[in-house]
Amino acid sequence: MGLTIALNRGRILKECLPLLAAAGIEPLEDIHSSRKLVFEATGGHRFIVMRGSDVPTYVEYGAADVGITGKDTILEYGQGARFYERLDLGLGRCKLMTAMPEGEELGDGPLRVGTKFVNVSRTYFESINRHVTLIPLAGAIEIAPIMGLADLIVDIVDTGNTLKANGLSARETIADISTRLIVNRAAQKTKFDLVQNLVSTLREVVAA
Ligand code: PRP
Repeated sequence: MGLTIALNRGRILKECLPLLAAAGIEPLEDIHSSRKLVFEATGGHRFIVMRGSDVPTYVEYGAADVGITGKDTILEYGQGARFYERLDLGLGRCKLMTAMPEGEELGDGPLRVGTKFVNVSRTYFESINRHVTLIPLAGAIEIAPIMGLADLIVDIVDTGNTLKANGLSARETIADISTRLIVNRAAQKTKFDLVQNLVSTLREVVAA
């Protein structure tokens, strides 16, 4: 019996499959052209493909032994380490930042913050002693200030093009983001050799 590996569908999946293949783990059929969500892989391993925000859940509860998802998702899932973060895969590097309309400055008054990252934002604004009202959004965060829904946003910034196209400028960096490998606490012990082997092989692949 190999490892059950939870993968974040979308961009992260696309980028991490070649790394896993270089580490000797490949799905037995083409993941991209299938509607299936569970895939047998070489070495007796198994991939399960899901939304990023579900990856930490599967790994915490042991429904997956390991998972690959973004640091942003891991931070938003919660601060208490309920799984081990073992490796930075170095993919998808970007920043979680605050942003607001170009030329505007933060006043002292109450602030409305539009974001997908409600937990991370709450912790961040508490840490700087700033009282804010958090406005949860599912996507297209960048339009919230233009539409008068929020004074500022907390979102992922990569090239900065989306901010620029919507008249916003990046302000403070909350966290540096990249794709991480996380491991279930029990699996770290009960499947020690398999987990260690995966971590060390992937580490070599990433370093190469
Ligand atoms: C992310 C993020 C920003 C954009 C930033 O969205 O939410 O909107 O990328 O990238 P940029 O700085 O290079 O413009 P993504 O495309 O991942 O889609 P999402 O809205 O589903 O998060």
